[in-house]
Amino acid sequence: MIRILDNETELHVAARERIIAEGRDALARRGRFSLVLSGGGTPRRTYELLAEKLAADRDFWAGTHLYWGDERGVPPDDAESNYRTARLVLLDKVAPPAANVHRLAGESNDPERTAAEYAAAFPARADLILLGLGADGHTASLFPGSPLLFEAQSLFAPATAPVAPKKRLTLTPPVLAVARTVLVLVTGTGKAAALRRVFAAEGSVEETPARLVRDAAWLMDRRAAQALADRPENK
Ligand code: 6PG
Repeated sequence: MIRILDNETELHVAARERIIAEGRDALARRGRFSLVLSGGGTPRRTYELLAEKLAADRDFWAGTHLYWGDERGVPPDDAESNYRTARLVLLDKVAPPAANVHRLAGESNDPERTAAEYAAAFPARADLILLGLGADGHTASLFPGSPLLFEAQSLFAPATAPVAPKKRLTLTPPVLAVARTVLVLVTGTGKAAALRRVFAAEGSVEETPARLVRDAAWLMDRRAAQALADRPENK
């Protein structure tokens, strides 16, 4: 499902509303909401809006368990840390129970062990996984040409990014395959070419990893969607 929003603000409002809807549904059905946060800069505003709207909703955060889809190989207080971004704009505002925050320790000096331990504590099916899209077509820390694109067993693994910070930990395709919902947030003209490759009839996951989730829920603004000329513009 592709939804094209007029601008970034509308996209972040739509993303917030989808997260809340998925959360309330999961909490009502199963008493627990596993939300996997995306890294990068795109979701920052979504997290801010989520915090503004739900900061006082203690029941929502009592049942919501927060995970990370990937993390950079830096300490949690590093400016490049995905955890730090979420902490500043979301965790510090909504103060979820400490036991509900499952930080992915990207700084680990034993990444294989850390990835295995994180996978062992990860839900069998995540309720909602948020993802972004890199200009090169990567998502999470699944980069073009990575052998992890064909990983069928491990749920999390060490990865190497082509840009600093190169050391990463990331979810793998099996995690995406069983998630109840995957929601990809894309804004800006810088992602238009990558989006075109994601939705092109021809192409490979190896060249464009985000093709792994081309059938997921996508929220994109008009600037990012400009290359999808043949796509219906449903708002
Ligand atoms: C990361 C993210 C990565 C990100 C894309 C888009 O750790 O960087 O998980 O997959 O979502 O690179 O990044 P922006 O949102 O900053 O464009």
